[in-house]
Amino acid sequence: MRALAVALSASLLTATAGLAVADTPKAASKAGARDEAAFIEALLGKMTLEEKLGQLNQPPGPDNRTGPQAEAGGLDQVRRSEVGSFLGLHGAARTCQYQKVAVEESRLGIPLLFAGDVIHGFRTIFPQSIGEAATFNPAAVEKSARIAAIEATAHGFHWTFAPMVDIARDPRWGRMSEGSGEDVYLGNVLARARVRGFQGDLKRDDEMLATAKHFVAYGAAEAGRDYNVADMSERTLREVYLPPFQAAVDAGVQTVMASFNEVGGVPMHANGPLINGVLRKEWGFDGLVVSDYTGVWELEKHGIAADDTAAGILALDAGVDIDMVSDIYRKSLPAAVRAGKLSQKTVDEAVRRVLRLKYKLGLFDDPYRFCNVEREQARTLTPEFRQAAREVARESLVLLKNEGNALPLAKGKLRKLAVIGPLADSHPDMLGNWAGDGRPEDTVTPLQGLRTALGSATQVSYAKGASIDGKDTSGFADAVAAARNADAVVMFIGESAAMSGEASSRTDIGLPGVQQQLVEAVKAAGKPVVAVVFSGRALTIEPLSKTVPAIVAAWFPGVEAGNAIADVLLGDYNPAGRLPVTFPRSVGQIPLYYDHKNTGRPIRINPDGKEEKYTSRYLDSPNTPLYPFGWGLSYTTFRYDAPKPKLAKIGAGDTQQVAVTVTNTGTRAGDEVVQLYVRDDVSSVTRPLRQLRGFQRVHLKPGESKTLDFTLKPDDLAFLGLDMRKRVEPGTFIVFAGGSSDASQQAQFEVVAQGR
Ligand code: BGC
Repeated sequence: MRALAVALSASLLTATAGLAVADTPKAASKAGARDEAAFIEALLGKMTLEEKLGQLNQPPGPDNRTGPQAEAGGLDQVRRSEVGSFLGLHGAARTCQYQKVAVEESRLGIPLLFAGDVIHGFRTIFPQSIGEAATFNPAAVEKSARIAAIEATAHGFHWTFAPMVDIARDPRWGRMSEGSGEDVYLGNVLARARVRGFQGDLKRDDEMLATAKHFVAYGAAEAGRDYNVADMSERTLREVYLPPFQAAVDAGVQTVMASFNEVGGVPMHANGPLINGVLRKEWGFDGLVVSDYTGVWELEKHGIAADDTAAGILALDAGVDIDMVSDIYRKSLPAAVRAGKLSQKTVDEAVRRVLRLKYKLGLFDDPYRFCNVEREQARTLTPEFRQAAREVARESLVLLKNEGNALPLAKGKLRKLAVIGPLADSHPDMLGNWAGDGRPEDTVTPLQGLRTALGSATQVSYAKGASIDGKDTSGFADAVAAARNADAVVMFIGESAAMSGEASSRTDIGLPGVQQQLVEAVKAAGKPVVAVVFSGRALTIEPLSKTVPAIVAAWFPGVEAGNAIADVLLGDYNPAGRLPVTFPRSVGQIPLYYDHKNTGRPIRINPDGKEEKYTSRYLDSPNTPLYPFGWGLSYTTFRYDAPKPKLAKIGAGDTQQVAVTVTNTGTRAGDEVVQLYVRDDVSSVTRPLRQLRGFQRVHLKPGESKTLDFTLKPDDLAFLGLDMRKRVEPGTFIVFAGGSSDASQQAQFEVVAQGR
């Protein structure tokens, strides 16, 4: 392998396919044409229309695993200058091979970009993105993205289609698993962290292009059904769905992916006002927009383009620079340009954006910067990467319930432990969806993790009990027998990894199959039972919450799943993960999110203790969730003092400081996620009852107090006025501090119109 890399590098020094060396882009760059714009204009000047459209073409590569089957682009296409980038082509040797053909055998020798979905790790799989969000720890999330970039670039990738920054408020939508959950503030913070982690400053050969996706409102798919229509007011679009994209742009994200859905009757792949308008003109994004998989072609299915040519024109005119998989730009747009239906300028601008990225990555100087077989071997699944994955995984675990301190398990005293459930020893499910090059054999399952941690002093028995979603109860008897014969039982239940992710919407988001019955049967054996629940979304687990005293939400924790889970169950790590999404009681409550409005008839309890009828509520369910956003327990307890705004009054353009004192009142050290919420009490436009405006994950020893400072900038107090302009309105603001969105400690301050 190494020999190949060396041979390829050496061959670069020789002249290329019939062209004089000085004619090649690489040579031009080496010759000192350092000014990026001049270099790109010179190159553009040499390109034929077909070569230009080739740069905008992104076929699937041989490693592509996404979407409906499509024919992979091959080396011949590269030779003919028909490809600018590949989706799903990696490996140091393989990328070298393709790059060599592009550089040495295509007419102009323009290097290729290798792109793919590196979402929560490449080979060292970290927790599913929603689980990473549950850490409420941007540094951990950034580190995960950083390690993913180090591994993926060592395997030849230049570009990842991450982060997904779609706000998700409907857990029926399977792609809730791929993002940071329901909250805009958390989403913004983590969007920035991930962009920084993947891209760094793009100077090193272990940093890669990131993509903010899917632009925009994809998470608002009607009825939670993937790819479905998203319809909403401009206010909701700007307040909820657009901000994480702007945060990513502000953090320097180089590319943005258009989404499959329509917004207000306009499919996003043809949505000029949002792509060229909001993203580019309003926010000043000067990077590249890539289509989603066959998104250009789908304009025909949406019914706004009669044929490929029309679809291609609509998309390119709307600002979609690269056509992923549809192969429409390459095939249909040369004729459209020649017929005057599409301007040459629009094509050139898109090509410039592609070439700029290649330039930025240094590929014109050294097209093989990212393919080095030795580095690939050295930077794959290293012990340090695994250790980092374990740390992030245990930070992602959320202790939802812990009645009577059922957890942690009494490690020293436990003689016999029964491990039960379909996810207890399932390697592939530990990885979650979009698991890059992750391999089941790399994973540690909960059964393995517990066995290792407990050693020979504890006898660990295992019974699967049932499959994840089958109807068969014949395994119950073994599970019950294992429970009877044990001092304590841990059940590993929930969804399979494939039940969330793309094209994985569900109408019933309770425990699948017969798992709830299995828990009840095992519980009846009379031993203490705790449950660890895997999922890529919020689940409706009210029945489970009534059956067992302790529940841990584990998401899909990645390669170190079992070790991280054992750390938490046995008390070697004190859990502090928090829910990035509200857990509803039932599907009927969806969408349910914490930063809702009050309405004119908020729910009211009458003096007789009953809910007033003519209020915004259900006859058959409380409005409250099972577990609110930001929720998560610890093996210790924390006390909050009322938050203290530094100033009683501030001017509308001023910054406020709020001090929050939190004390560990229990007997164990642990992290607490201190959360600060704000309400604008009276305003010209209705506002949510509270909105997250700051959080800090801090470590406190038993008895220790810390006072944390939160800064509220004007933007944190602002909203879009009736004219859709951002403003801070004078009046009373209430701040809430606590360990979840239910935070009850509060204080207020005034914002005044002029100065203080
Ligand atoms: C998904 C994208 C992904 C792309 C390429 C699509 O089906 O919606 O999120 O980046 O495939 O794999």
